[in-house]
Amino acid sequence: MSKRFYLTTAIDYVNGQPHLGHAYEKVITDVIARAHRSMGEGTFYLTGVDEHGQKVQQAAVADGKTAQAYCDELARAWQAFAAKLELTNNDFVRTTELRHQVMVEAVLRKLHSAGHFYRAEYSGFYSTKEETFLTEKDRRPDGTFDPIYGEVVELVEDNYYFKLKDHQTWLIDYVENDPDFILPQARRNEVLGFLKNNPLEDLCITRPASRLNWGIPVPFDPGYVTYVWFDALLNYITVPAAYGDPVVLGALDSAVEAPESDWRMPGSALELWPADVQVVGKDIVKFHAVFWPIMLRALGLPLPRQLLVHGWWQYEGQKMSKTTGNIVDPMAVIAEWGVDAFRYYVIRELGIGSDGNWTDAGFQARYQADLANGLGNLVNRSLSMLNRYRQGRVPERSEDLAPDAEKAIRESSENLKQLQLQTALQVVWSLVNRANQYVDHTAPFKLAKDPAQAQRLDAVLYSLAETCRVLAVLIWPFLPSTANRIYAQLGLTGSPDQIAASKWGGLPPGHAIGKISPLFPRRDQPSAGPITAGVSRP
Ligand code: ME8
Ligand code: MG
Repeated sequence: MSKRFYLTTAIDYVNGQPHLGHAYEKVITDVIARAHRSMGEGTFYLTGVDEHGQKVQQAAVADGKTAQAYCDELARAWQAFAAKLELTNNDFVRTTELRHQVMVEAVLRKLHSAGHFYRAEYSGFYSTKEETFLTEKDRRPDGTFDPIYGEVVELVEDNYYFKLKDHQTWLIDYVENDPDFILPQARRNEVLGFLKNNPLEDLCITRPASRLNWGIPVPFDPGYVTYVWFDALLNYITVPAAYGDPVVLGALDSAVEAPESDWRMPGSALELWPADVQVVGKDIVKFHAVFWPIMLRALGLPLPRQLLVHGWWQYEGQKMSKTTGNIVDPMAVIAEWGVDAFRYYVIRELGIGSDGNWTDAGFQARYQADLANGLGNLVNRSLSMLNRYRQGRVPERSEDLAPDAEKAIRESSENLKQLQLQTALQVVWSLVNRANQYVDHTAPFKLAKDPAQAQRLDAVLYSLAETCRVLAVLIWPFLPSTANRIYAQLGLTGSPDQIAASKWGGLPPGHAIGKISPLFPRRDQPSAGPITAGVSRP
């Protein structure tokens, strides 16, 4: 038994329907997870939803439901969303689950008895929209708070605090000494700048139950529930503990009071913690790069190896917002264009870390150029010619495109290991383009007219079919359905899910290919209306 490569995403608030930004983060993480599985590594991918807190409770009230009924309904919708995106998550965590409550209570008990908390009067400001505390320092010169915080209310109440001040020095050293802990570098610099210039304020980790009861009860004081962020971050160790992870259980087992049968996966002993990559958006870096490492250190747990911070999407140059309706609905895009077109566009358009702008015209242009005319056309014409000229039988092996394929395999794997997903995809598409040029240069339709060129035509047809096979393996982490369809059209059984299978020469001579059909039908007439159906723009 050895440690799995463990990846997590942020868990989304269930106060509305998922949009492009949520989908993007989950797709990035899925590509990394699939790439590691393809390289033969045991991998565990966790995503889920964040159900507690004021924001979700208010959404439930506005919807006329109890918080739990509202969350149950939305959690189902978000899970269906994960399936639609073809995510290969190994579990889906909900913060209202018993296993999570058991863990949060254990953490609170352990930290409380070790003296990390104290009780004091909290006086300050709270943004429900961002579920975060603000102070006088967060006011702008004119005295107001940034509109991203929505309504900010002043609070004066007794609460429990987590002492953060003592952790400042080691955390600065840690971030400085591990240049890959926070990626990209710009985000790491931002965290260092923040840590070096601001004395850490202690973190308020409770809310009086009399004011907010939609949270996990504090085990040592029934008058309080847990602050939603303190609860949410712990999801990343809840699931390892539930699967029997020895590191997390070693630190927390003695503080757990529930019987194992209530919350553990029977018979499971997966090694997961520490996480290898934690993927989050740029707005929640402080929670993950400051609060989370301190919580872990206080618990005696190792820190995650890497925090990968992605940028934010806009739609047609405007902030996405539920209130204005300016939102890209991934479900609508997928219904019309297919899940792989969606996955392709978001990975290809944006390097991780940069902000992006979804435009309908840009999406359609990439669909047409890269998918319909690029990969789709290559596979379709390669296999059609094999049918036409060789009755669908694979000819003798040829090495014509082997060096190009090997270069693409090597470089895309290297880029995937470095989390350079966009570059990896570009490398794969350089093989697509190379093979399409090869068709144009070798002109198989001319070779077919000259019986003296039969061997040459065999070589061309083999090279094209084998390149299609290699491409199926290379695109599998990105476009899994398309990869499977290419394999099926080649008459191959199984899934192209192992990079080892990309080695040139996998198609045996004499093998009969399967039934062919276009992968990405051309859309010469752009569909009527916005592709992001259900969107009303002001
Ligand atoms: O912050 N573009 O949840 P959330 C890209 N529950 N990413 C975006 C985006 C956009 N336009 N909008 C949101 C929370 N995101 C907490 C997390 S983790 C223990 C708790 C990303 O639903 C955002 O950056 O507000 C975050 O990573 C994720 O979606 C969930 O955001
Ligand atoms: Mg948010």
